[in-house]
Amino acid sequence: MSQLAIYHEADPGTPLETTDDPLQIAAALAPIGVRFERWPVQDCAADDALGVYAEEIARLKKSGGYQSVDVIAMAPDHPDRAALRQKFLSEHRHAEDEVRFFVEGEGLFTLHEDGRVFNLLCTRGDLIAVPANMRHWFDMGAEPRFTAIRLFVNPDGWVAHMTGDAIADRFPRFEKGAA
Ligand SMILES: [Fe+2]
Repeated sequence: MSQLAIYHEADPGTPLETTDDPLQIAAALAPIGVRFERWPVQDCAADDALGVYAEEIARLKKSGGYQSVDVIAMAPDHPDRAALRQKFLSEHRHAEDEVRFFVEGEGLFTLHEDGRVFNLLCTRGDLIAVPANMRHWFDMGAEPRFTAIRLFVNPDGWVAHMTGDAIADRFPRFEKGAA
């Protein structure tokens, strides 16, 4: 189940509020410019995901100006899982939006904005669109398992620029089975 915990940036100990209600999650993230949606869950293989979700993808491409789309799948036995996890584990920004739809599995997105930290556990059926230049990090866990559709304005522009702030180390990481 999707879960949102909002913290003051200086207090990782106690969340200011938590919710697992998709409408409340969307309402809490909209003011900072993050789009959160629940799409109808459909069983499909990674290779079929773009076809199964074609309608939602077309809508998102139109509204967000996204030009390309692909599917990424991570399995717990992926030989590079530790390095891939590490890559986005520290606070960073991108010059363009980070848009992900979880076809299967889960991962923890954390957004840092307006003096607050938003820990969002994304699960199957969740769409998240993090706007360009927003500080954030992503934890797929030690045994990652997810299939996600990714949308890009320009995939070449989607590069992580580290902020150098160690804030991510102070906040909760992905815990398998927490949902
Ligand atoms: Fe990112």
